[in-house]
Amino acid sequence: MKVLGIETSCDETGIAIYDTATQQLLADKLYSQVALHAEYGGVVPELASRDHIRKITPLIKEALQQAELALTDLDGIAYTSGPGLIGALMVGASVGRSLAWGLKIPAVAVHHMEGHLLAPMLESNPPVFPFVALLVSGGHTMLVDVKAIGDYRIMGESLDDAVGEAFDKTAKMLGLGYPGGPILAELATQGKADVYKFPRPMIRQGGLDFSYSGLKTFALTTWNKSDKTQQDKANIAHAFQEAVVDTLFIKCRRALDSLSDEGPDHQNGEKQRLVIAGGVGANTRLREKLAELDADIFFPRMQFCTDNGAMIAYAGAIRLQAGQTEEAVIQPQPRWSLEDLERPSL
Ligand code: KG4
Ligand code: ZN
Repeated sequence: MKVLGIETSCDETGIAIYDTATQQLLADKLYSQVALHAEYGGVVPELASRDHIRKITPLIKEALQQAELALTDLDGIAYTSGPGLIGALMVGASVGRSLAWGLKIPAVAVHHMEGHLLAPMLESNPPVFPFVALLVSGGHTMLVDVKAIGDYRIMGESLDDAVGEAFDKTAKMLGLGYPGGPILAELATQGKADVYKFPRPMIRQGGLDFSYSGLKTFALTTWNKSDKTQQDKANIAHAFQEAVVDTLFIKCRRALDSLSDEGPDHQNGEKQRLVIAGGVGANTRLREKLAELDADIFFPRMQFCTDNGAMIAYAGAIRLQAGQTEEAVIQPQPRWSLEDLERPSL
């Protein structure tokens, strides 16, 4: 089954084609709107929607060319239906549904975070179920107990800012430009350790929830009290990133510990599995630190950490292959919990 994947939930237009027969990606195209939003220092929803409209059809054509396929060779369409910006989602949903209608093929509405969560399945050594997933993006921070595709239990999540959002806001405060996350991470490599010590929020109390808005304020206070040199900035970036990475590390360990009796066959040397996905999964320091956990760790390749069409094509292909059918309605869901998804009968 050749499935076209469409991602338009935020500021990236992602189009890909996944083939279930060969389990290969036949095409993968991405257009990032970063330059468009840069002058505003953040995503402007209306501009995002308009740019998706501009780019979606040319990108679909490019993807078909890359795969050497005609539209009529497609067997199904998967599009991100939520969560995300309503106008942006509307573009992908309308194009996806209409195309499927015209071609008389099935279409499936994909949950953006399920896409992220399944992105490591596109790699050469994919994780097997069950596993724990740490989803860290611009809009979400959560730990998920994943028993199977569609069987998700949220173990903990951010009570305020998502990790990516905290990176972006802190970067903006430090005048680092947009998008802040990767720029702040880069600057952190030049920072000296142990100059500043940031708090580790939500660690002393038990549980698996996160809170990141306080760290952003802490960074601002620290910056205002400093001499405001470039080195101070790098030191703050470093301390901020360490605090974020540390809290994620501690909560991942806690989540794995809480499930240590389930799943893997420890007697046969099997370890627990942890999947890291979402934009902040591209953070080198986070990848390095989480590798210290006593678990098998799975990351998607860098470009599949941030938004892309490939993860949507894959997630949709699995559901279409399982025979999931849906009413032909265009109804994106800007808010949509992972726990509301159903488990396809595979
Ligand atoms: O998953 P994603 O592409 O979009 C959403 O679904 O939100 O994640 C984007 C987020 C942004 O907040 C971006 O700053 C952050 O991921 N990000 C990073 C890095 N690369 C992207 N944060 C820290 N370090 C990075 N290297
Ligand atoms: Zn995302």
